[in-house]
Amino acid sequence: MHNSSEILELVNEALAAMPLDRKPAGLYDPVRYVLSLGGKRIRPVLMLMAYEMYRDDITAIMPTALGIETYHNYTLLHDDVMDRADVRRGKPTVHRVWNDNTAILSGDAMLVLAYQLMGQTRGDMLRPVMELFTETALQIGEGQQYDMEFETRLDVGEDEYIEMIRLKTSVLLACALKLGAMQGGAPEADAQRLYDFGVNMGLAFQLQDDLLDVYGDFQTFGKRIGGDILEGKKTFMLINALRLADDRQRAELLRWLSTPTTAVPRQPEAPGQAAAPCDPQQKIAAVTAIYDAVGVRQLAEQKIASYFEAAQRCLDSVALSDDRKLPLRQLALSLIGRNS
Ligand code: IPE
Ligand code: IPE
Ligand code: MG
Ligand code: MG
Ligand code: MG
Repeated sequence: MHNSSEILELVNEALAAMPLDRKPAGLYDPVRYVLSLGGKRIRPVLMLMAYEMYRDDITAIMPTALGIETYHNYTLLHDDVMDRADVRRGKPTVHRVWNDNTAILSGDAMLVLAYQLMGQTRGDMLRPVMELFTETALQIGEGQQYDMEFETRLDVGEDEYIEMIRLKTSVLLACALKLGAMQGGAPEADAQRLYDFGVNMGLAFQLQDDLLDVYGDFQTFGKRIGGDILEGKKTFMLINALRLADDRQRAELLRWLSTPTTAVPRQPEAPGQAAAPCDPQQKIAAVTAIYDAVGVRQLAEQKIASYFEAAQRCLDSVALSDDRKLPLRQLALSLIGRNS
């Protein structure tokens, strides 16, 4: 069996060999650009690992694995427009290097390319693969819509947040695992346990992403620290800070949330009175200080640990010997401690 870095290498080689030599360059340059910037490639790696738990010839499902990574990168192009994110993987985002329209259309092309790759799934697995992938892709759009709608609300509950991240993030990890297991010939019950493992890992993964958005290091995270605060994202930390703050902290937090910033135009309408714009770094520092005071970082870390444990239990229940499950277990562990 391969470990995750060996699989990552195979995925990167296959991605680099993907034929993208179509015209016009204006449509495909951004596709090549985003795919060349690296990234952790966890979705195809998860898929190939789940497959290898049942069968050895992992390159047989490479088109499906490339399809899911291409799909993921499409979501990032559009997500960065929606979140007005200027940097990803340590490099300027597509809509910054080019413009919004380019990010939209090159993103659309990537979605189609993803379907083309998925369509190359071999044999009688094609139909079930397309069904799960298509259902998952719809769910991601639903999660992204909730994410946007929550920006202008202050009463988002933790349950709503968890459901939103399940849709926008978890189901794709889960889908990757289940597609790998299905194509490997796993029994349905085990394919579903791997799906559930992916859901729990995905929840931990997105909680960690939200945590790194506040407490990460720009160099390793490769994204702007504080971006979620500037966009009014209802993260686990903000929801719990609003819930646990005392009256004074809460009033201060609400005041900062309704204060626009100078460098970030086209912000969501903040409920309440419009205040004079402030410097974005000042807002990030002030909100972070309230998070620190309320202790939401520890709370998020506990939540991450509990989803990780739930994921472990799902993996435990897969009816295979421990050595078949070891590479996946090791990858899960490394994802939880991630800083990028
Ligand atoms: C970013 O995904 C979007 C989230 C679901 C948090 P990744 O953290 O997997 O991004 P890359 O592909 O490694 O850059
Ligand atoms: C992204 O969530 C989820 C999808 C792209 C579907 P985020 O908006 O938190 O991801 P990043 O932080 O920009 O990578
Ligand atoms: Mg984003
Ligand atoms: Mg987003
Ligand atoms: Mg994020």
